[in-house]
Amino acid sequence: MTNHKYKIGIVGCGGIANAHMEGYNKINNVEVVAATDPVEMARDGYIHDYNIPNGYETIQEMLDDAQPEIVSVCVWHLLHDPVTVEVAKGKSVKGIICEKPMAIGMGRADRMVEACEENDVKLIISHQRRFTPGWQKARELVQKGAIAIPLRADLRVKDGLANWGTHSIDGARFVLDDPKALWVMGSVERNSEKHERGTVIEDSCMGLIHFEGGLQFFIQSDLWDNNCDAGKFFIRGTEGMIHITETKVKLFNASTGGWEDVDLGLKDGDKAIGGNSNAAQTLELIEWIEGGPEHRGSGRKARDTVEIMMAIYESARFNKVINLPLKEKEYPLEKMIEEGKLPISIEGKYDIRGFIDWANIDTEKYKNLRDDGLSHGESMRILHQENRNKN
Ligand SMILES: NC(=O)c1ccc[n+]([C@@H]2O[C@H](COP(=O)([O-])OP(=O)(O)OC[C@H]3O[C@@H](n4cnc5c(N)ncnc54)[C@H](O)[C@@H]3O)[C@@H](O)[C@H]2O)c1
Repeated sequence: MTNHKYKIGIVGCGGIANAHMEGYNKINNVEVVAATDPVEMARDGYIHDYNIPNGYETIQEMLDDAQPEIVSVCVWHLLHDPVTVEVAKGKSVKGIICEKPMAIGMGRADRMVEACEENDVKLIISHQRRFTPGWQKARELVQKGAIAIPLRADLRVKDGLANWGTHSIDGARFVLDDPKALWVMGSVERNSEKHERGTVIEDSCMGLIHFEGGLQFFIQSDLWDNNCDAGKFFIRGTEGMIHITETKVKLFNASTGGWEDVDLGLKDGDKAIGGNSNAAQTLELIEWIEGGPEHRGSGRKARDTVEIMMAIYESARFNKVINLPLKEKEYPLEKMIEEGKLPISIEGKYDIRGFIDWANIDTEKYKNLRDDGLSHGESMRILHQENRNKN
């Protein structure tokens, strides 16, 4: 890695942008030079908190004026593709770290990959858990044959397939060396007008994913909570089993004498979101920009996770097994709704992440709470609760 100090720009100054800053603050070869957000209080609070020299209302202004080389795309899902495409055209831009889920639909995901390739920009998706000690150790153990031949991964998530399922599917794929998915069978329920960060989502769903070599994943989303988590899954092999989270791994095989806690040598800052994992994913991006190997979280790899999720919806849409590659380029769940396949019995649009929306947030009150030392997230929760109490 060279000694070059990369200029960083941030797009979207909300919750996850704080995790990106945590990562950037841990490494020497970056300098965060600018942030952009159309919401003034979001932008001003963020550049003030992190002492960032420039704040912009639009992305174009930031690209023209601050000339960032790496850009964090921290906006809601439906903006990931238009923002990534716009940023990729920036003359100074060499790398993009776009948040998950990569995109809602294959057309959008592929546009992102193409725009970055055309402009010689390295695109990664922030599936930052690929850098956590638990997932890395589990991958190493599975590659060394600790469970012999992997047969089945069990994944249980909530709060939307695209929201949490993307991490979990990505994680099992990472541990199992990004196997090639062949077909998907899925089932979806949507009786209510549920959304997540402005995206139409299902009430619940499940999917069986079949990979080359006979490996299968089973994922259930918003069905059985039971301490489910985006970063937690279980893999069974022909001669062993492994429970995996970002910071805990338990192995069972002929030589462990029952379940064994695997020593991960955890360090300060080892956690699922932010900290060491965000720092490490940036360093690997810089290596890729400088001619190193493709990033473990590249857009090309992440688009395969989008394809699996979209195929679960497509399978439910047509009640059949979907062979990959998926032909449908749009969002199959939205198409099912348009086609009248998911009639609503509980009226009223709602968003399970409504508590992070800037709409109807009182600027003065937000500023006062921040001045009193509350975090962005704490302040938003209080103000949204106040709004709810008023209604
Ligand atoms: N990797 C993870 O573990 C993880 C965790 C949480 C969230 N996320 C992802 O991060 C993304 C953002 O989620 P969040 O919770 O931070 O949302 P948020 O609402 O807290 O922040 C988004 C910000 O983007 C701003 N914005 C909207 N349009 C913009 C535009 N055109 N240009 C610049 N800024 C714009 C909004 O004003 C807002 O401040 C989502 O896609 C989410 O899935 C990832």
